[in-house]
Amino acid sequence: MKIAVVGTGYVGLVTGTCFAETGNHVTCVDIDERKVAKMRNREMPIFEPGLDLLFHRNIDQGRLSFTTSLAEGIEGAKVIFLALPTPPGEDGSADLKYILQVAEELGPILNQYVVVVDKSTVPVGTAEKVRARIAANATVDFDVVSNPEFLREGVAVDDFMKPDRVVVGTTSKDAQKVMEQLYAPLVRQGNPVIFMDEKSAELTKYAANSFLATKITFMNEIANLCELVGADVDAVRRGVGTDTRIGNRFLFAGIGYGGSCFPKDVQALEKTSKEYEYDFKLLDAVMEVNHRQKTKLFPKLIEYFGGSLKGKTIAVWGLAFKPNTDDIREAPALYNIKDFLEAGARVKVYDPEAMENVKEIFGDQITYCSHQYAASDESDALVIFTEWPVFRTPDFDVLQKGLNNPIIFDGRNLYDLEVMKELGFDYISVGRAEVRKHQTVKV
Ligand code: UDX
Repeated sequence: MKIAVVGTGYVGLVTGTCFAETGNHVTCVDIDERKVAKMRNREMPIFEPGLDLLFHRNIDQGRLSFTTSLAEGIEGAKVIFLALPTPPGEDGSADLKYILQVAEELGPILNQYVVVVDKSTVPVGTAEKVRARIAANATVDFDVVSNPEFLREGVAVDDFMKPDRVVVGTTSKDAQKVMEQLYAPLVRQGNPVIFMDEKSAELTKYAANSFLATKITFMNEIANLCELVGADVDAVRRGVGTDTRIGNRFLFAGIGYGGSCFPKDVQALEKTSKEYEYDFKLLDAVMEVNHRQKTKLFPKLIEYFGGSLKGKTIAVWGLAFKPNTDDIREAPALYNIKDFLEAGARVKVYDPEAMENVKEIFGDQITYCSHQYAASDESDALVIFTEWPVFRTPDFDVLQKGLNNPIIFDGRNLYDLEVMKELGFDYISVGRAEVRKHQTVKV
């Protein structure tokens, strides 16, 4: 099938590349001339494990190409994906200007029946707006379908190729047939393509992300309570997660969720609720608790160092909002680094992928280390914000010899309390007892 993907951001590029991999001919369209020139030169503009290989293979096989011209990109396409940014406006609602602009441009240049697919996360009612914009100038028949993506950064290729489910919002039989055909190679194992009306599909995306954000936030609240009553959140997680009605995923307590989706989508759903004069109380609480959770370790550092961080050097492991990405949007590390600096500390950081992005924010206010131990050496404390695999089993001997004080603040609960006690670290994590001066103490 011939497909066009408009917008080569994260979602667009993964969608285009993966559909090329399943044998379609995909043209990706972007207004950014430099980016298109780079991609034509086989340069991958984003960091996503596994995508490079597919990107290069499909360019070489002639199934993946790039253009700045919308008319050229959609020529002969049966499906046009809109994967354009929907940044939050000042009031938190998703800004649709990019999508609606492209919809307007599409109208006059469509010359055969086509399925236009909203792939971006868009508020309820967007498909209707897109349809109206295209219809204003179109001379041929077309359908607009909502097909939200559920990709997680870092494992997006796998998520795309083996989706738990595909949600398609359309009541048009013609569009259903096209979408079924397109997704058939990805749902062979029996995972469903769930058809529904457009509005329900649009709401499904927000409901799924807000539910997951709520699930994490609930466990963060339980973790905070564990600290007060002297329980262990890891044990509670195992205890509740084995109930299949609850499930064991997205139950890991820590220093809050970040990224481009959860914060934006929870906020946007709350905004939609307000528009319909519905007071969605739970979402307000989720946002507030998550915000508080992000800097949860900071007062513990202050307390540990007797009230001040002045003159201390703090080592930071992990800057990205989660492992296997260089994305630092809403990353807890950023909020904490700002607090550390304001409290008079020197900050040395290491992240396997995200340091270039952090340089754009903190410049030379902090030290960027080429190795995780270069950050911890001669530092007064180590603070962990991202659970990169390389931090899970460090050389504790090297770490201990390098640190001025053997103290670790762990926002991701990576290490076993007993092991830390035996090794002689002071160890403060989230929702668990603290190991201090070789004793495990209830907080
Ligand atoms: C999310 C959704 O999972 C995906 O379906 C959607 O399309 C986009 O948003 P992503 O933001 O890439 O994906 O990351 P995800 O792996 O879901 O993690 C989001 C945040 O939650 C991260 O900050 C992560 O550290 C945090 N998290 C996740 C927890 O704190 N605890 C958990 O148990 C799981």
